[in-house]
Amino acid sequence: MSGEELRAREGEGARADGRRASEEGLAGSAAASVPGGGAWRLAYVTDLELPHPLDAAGRDACLRRLSALFLDDACARRGGLGRVTRAVNATGEPFAVKALVLPDDGPGDPARRAEIVRRAFDEEYESQRRLVGLEGFPQLYGRGMVDGKPVIIMEWVEGETLEHAARALAVDDDGRLSPLTAARLGRDLFELLVRMDQKAGGLAHRDLSPANVMVRTRELPLADQAEAGAFDLRIVDFGSSALAQRRETSLTEGFGAPRGATPDYAPPEMLTDDVPQAPHARVSPAVDVYAAASVVYGLACGRPPFDLGAEGEVRSPYRCKTEDAPAPLRTAHDAAPDLAAVLRREPEVAAAAASASDEGLLRAALASADARLGAVILPCLVVDQAARPSAVTVRDGLAALCRDYADLVRRALGGGTPDLAPAGGAPCDGGGVRPPRIPRAR
Ligand SMILES: Nc1ncnc2c1ncn2[C@@H]1O[C@H](COP(=O)(O)OP(=O)(O)OP(=O)(O)O)[C@@H](O)[C@H]1O
Ligand SMILES: [Mg+2]
Repeated sequence: MSGEELRAREGEGARADGRRASEEGLAGSAAASVPGGGAWRLAYVTDLELPHPLDAAGRDACLRRLSALFLDDACARRGGLGRVTRAVNATGEPFAVKALVLPDDGPGDPARRAEIVRRAFDEEYESQRRLVGLEGFPQLYGRGMVDGKPVIIMEWVEGETLEHAARALAVDDDGRLSPLTAARLGRDLFELLVRMDQKAGGLAHRDLSPANVMVRTRELPLADQAEAGAFDLRIVDFGSSALAQRRETSLTEGFGAPRGATPDYAPPEMLTDDVPQAPHARVSPAVDVYAAASVVYGLACGRPPFDLGAEGEVRSPYRCKTEDAPAPLRTAHDAAPDLAAVLRREPEVAAAAASASDEGLLRAALASADARLGAVILPCLVVDQAARPSAVTVRDGLAALCRDYADLVRRALGGGTPDLAPAGGAPCDGGGVRPPRIPRAR
């Protein structure tokens, strides 16, 4: 898709988001006016705790910065149990304030429920604390209480979820992205898993999905990132995360269902309580490898790897994922009735394909390049955790594919045999392939 088309779509998306946010508006305490207009709710953050120790002067400065915030209720985003609201302090510095919103009619007595929420939040905060300072994750500022409820205060990620961005980047009407763009997003997502493992070994996010990955657009709009071929991703929502040495989350205990674990993306071990090794398996980073590969699959195919809601399907998601193989990877090229129309939306691929003399040859060439994507991500979607490749292997396989994609197409068109990497995708040059850096703020 051309940058211009995409920019126009981004504009529409932003307007739609604005409507959604204002329709959603939070019930709140007294509204206040702040310079710049709009209704904001003044909230005092009490019992403020900072993620790392500071001297008295540093602590005082943080307290001044964070203890009174104006919440923009018209700019709140809801997920499963969380509500993330944009806030600014008196100097206009933006923050994200996350609170948990539990249904009123849940099981158990209210005091116990409140205690469970607090413990779950402790765990979420603790996971984020382990990633403090790591690029690719919202910066953590602290936690405290607002209106008697626990909140986490973190960086406000200016941007959109991958779910939303994927709609803007789609090259066909079924929501498929160019396989090359899907591979680039996948490379950048797996790079974050690698960083997470390096910084906080043993920490698993456990609910990776397109709704929990954001594309930050503060420095570069989505269209420009797509054109540059590198994405500024942020993994959000550590509400389902776990450390290898920790037991199941408190909310799972208290409410009887795992918090998070979006079935379309989660591995089978996150979808059952009945397998003896499941508790151990559920705290492994291999959970994230499966889910991130499912995200990449979904970007390329416009749908996740298993059709859990298929008509007549009576089996549980766990059974579907253990009894069936993922649906064959059908990319925008495979599925296109009008291949030229798809290629008009992916100029880089079109340039590589320009020498094709007939459509049959062109389709075969694209299919051989796209098969590399399957060769890298399908091995992640196996039931046996131990057989899944590591995040490093997948990142390197996707990086090599991104680098070689145009050459693979050209070589296939020229009659050469594309050099298919083995499953898991060893980099073609044999070395560690690093994804390009996201441009820094200008
Ligand atoms: N730091 C942030 N800055 C901006 N937006 C965010 C941030 N964190 C989350 N969001 C947005 O808010 C939405 C909901 O947040 P989040 O995913 O943390 O809550 P949730 O899915 O309800 O979580 P939980 O699993 O804890 O119930 C996200 O999908 C994302 O759009
Ligand atoms: Mg979420």
